Amino acid sequence: MTNDEIAKLTEDIVICEACHLKNSRTQVVPGLYGPKNGLCIIGEAPGYYEDKQGIPFVGRSGKLLDNMLSGIGLEREKDMSILNVIKCRPTTADNNNRTPTNSELKFCGERWLFKQLKLLSPKLIVTIGSIALRFFIPSAAVTKYVGKSYDTDFGIKLYVTYHPAYILRNYNLMDLYNEHFEGIKSLYLNLLNQNEITSDNKRSTKGQGEQKSLTDFL
Ligand code: URA
Repeated sequence: MTNDEIAKLTEDIVICEACHLKNSRTQVVPGLYGPKNGLCIIGEAPGYYEDKQGIPFVGRSGKLLDNMLSGIGLEREKDMSILNVIKCRPTTADNNNRTPTNSELKFCGERWLFKQLKLLSPKLIVTIGSIALRFFIPSAAVTKYVGKSYDTDFGIKLYVTYHPAYILRNYNLMDLYNEHFEGIKSLYLNLLNQNEITSDNKRSTKGQGEQKSLTDFL
């Protein structure tokens, strides 16, 4: 990824008018970029505050997310990218936040999120909440998948955890949420170490086997 490539992609995202969500947004929320080949946190869609500021996870959920990340020694942007599957706020008729539909997820996710991931090429994706998970694994129920990692068809490891808004409503799950973030940290460190060992020994598996890459999905 060059800075130019990501800047060009972001310019395209922020002027997107490809679907009806252009009518409900104040502005597009493209996401925040961290290092390439790093960690990428993926939520569902901007809410009221994100739509006003153009930045993902700035409301109450965002504060909890930042606390969870700082608990494992990580900081948004410096250490990771934070993206949403959908870039524009979906609203109800009376202007409240609304859960995106499956077709909105597919349309926006395939149009923009996949391209962002292709450029960022993360080692680990963390989906937070059932909606982001549904985009990657449509049949998955978050309650069955949380706290574990999965291999995706496009070759990036995916860890599943709860949305911070869900934890704010179910505070009894806070200990478990802490465990998930510890799990994210150790998985991520393992993936970084594996990569170092592989490149040290010049044992790259690139080109072997049936592994697909994001390019196959674009
Ligand atoms: N919830 C999300 O999933 N994303 C945001 O950016 C804010 C709240």
